[in-house]
Amino acid sequence: MPMRKGETPTVRLEWNGKSAVPPPRPAPLHRLMEIYPSGTRIQKKTSPLNRLILGDNLAVMDALLEEMRGKFRLIYCDPPFATGKGFDRRIGRGEDSRKPETWRLGEGYADSWNSIEEYLSMLYPRLIRMRDLLAADGTLYLHLDWRAVHFAKVLLDELFGAENFINEIIWVYHGPSPGKSYFNRKHDTILVYGRGKTRAFYPDRIRVPYHPSTHRTFASSPKAGFGKKPDLLRGKIPEDWWYFPVIARLHNERTGYPTQKPEALLERILQASSTKGDLVGDFFCGSGTTLRTADSLSRRWIGCDTLPQSISICQRRLALGRSRPYAIDSLVREMPAAAKRIRLTAAVRADRRRVTVTLAGLSPCLPDGFPVSLDYWEADFDYRGDVIRSEHQAARPWRKGSTETSLSHTYSRAGSYRIFLRAICSDGAVSTGERRIEIK
Ligand SMILES: C[S@@+](CC[C@H](N)C(=O)[O-])C[C@H]1O[C@@H](n2cnc3c(N)ncnc32)[C@H](O)[C@@H]1O
Repeated sequence: MPMRKGETPTVRLEWNGKSAVPPPRPAPLHRLMEIYPSGTRIQKKTSPLNRLILGDNLAVMDALLEEMRGKFRLIYCDPPFATGKGFDRRIGRGEDSRKPETWRLGEGYADSWNSIEEYLSMLYPRLIRMRDLLAADGTLYLHLDWRAVHFAKVLLDELFGAENFINEIIWVYHGPSPGKSYFNRKHDTILVYGRGKTRAFYPDRIRVPYHPSTHRTFASSPKAGFGKKPDLLRGKIPEDWWYFPVIARLHNERTGYPTQKPEALLERILQASSTKGDLVGDFFCGSGTTLRTADSLSRRWIGCDTLPQSISICQRRLALGRSRPYAIDSLVREMPAAAKRIRLTAAVRADRRRVTVTLAGLSPCLPDGFPVSLDYWEADFDYRGDVIRSEHQAARPWRKGSTETSLSHTYSRAGSYRIFLRAICSDGAVSTGERRIEIK
């Protein structure tokens, strides 16, 4: 039954271990890098607005709260679903190929819990922080499935107020299913809550065409719709069930990161509940679907993930999408490398003020000789020993092709420069190197 105005819910979810969430304990965020995708101008005096943050999102949101409370127009939240499994990623030189010899499974993210209580104790404080980061007219989209969504609905009623519930969106898709004794589970549920009574919603940006049968009905009978004819040309606001295909092997946007969501799904969410220049957050950002979509729709964004491999995939994805500049921040002072086992050797050639760095003989392999690919590399041509300002990048395209092995830069002034290089391989290994050059 809908809540009456001013009524507080008496239905609450309790579990062993549910406790009052302590106030934020802000820890400093360290700036590790600034990325200026090739062709964008480096900003020495201001920081990029967009931020990719490595770390546990509870601590990261605590760190952001003081500065960013009430600043996010939209937060999309796609946490682990309480599946009890680990999700591996494909690594190798042909992760989308059907040939098993070209890929193998590498560590992805964990979704194993001792109990549903433990899972809820993880989710609860994070939902509170997201609520506090949202603007007064902001919207939360919480993406889950049958395992935890019903608990989450009761939790969100408690945290946002049942009167601020907006929608329960059912995302339907197709795919193989192992179940023989039940209907195929082929939908996820996205709970939508407003932070307050007024909320940003832009229906005209998400309209879809009416079904041909609706057109036929109105064409054939003047009495259809009891005299109320919809604007058939303008289209309709979509129903609360959406069909978008899952990201399969042949999709161009596929990154190989597990449980990657479709950009089309995020595009509808972002178009509906944010506008150009708005700040959008995703604190379980995975392969960066929200960040990439937000960037292409000219939203500002902050993304966070606890896995360095996620940050690496996001970097590659943002480079391939020619994103706007962004910063990489972290709770720790140095980006942990999955393994620093590849020596980065590079040849540096200068033609007057134009310098070209070429990676030499880089053919990365796992310790047992299994070949992996160079996924991404970047260079700061004027490294000053503190924050790395990545000014030129090369990334391996998603489906075919390899990473460009040369990057060039033209200096505007003579001088002595340090060139900082950083490369990421498909198994997550990160290598760095440094060279010096005199420009006359
Ligand atoms: C379901 S995936 C997100 C997928 C993403 N929406 C995409 O399209 O690629 C969940 C992500 O949450 C991350 N994660 C889990 N616990 C986290 C935590 N406490 N802090 C930050 N990230 C976390 C995992 O590493 C994983 O990348």
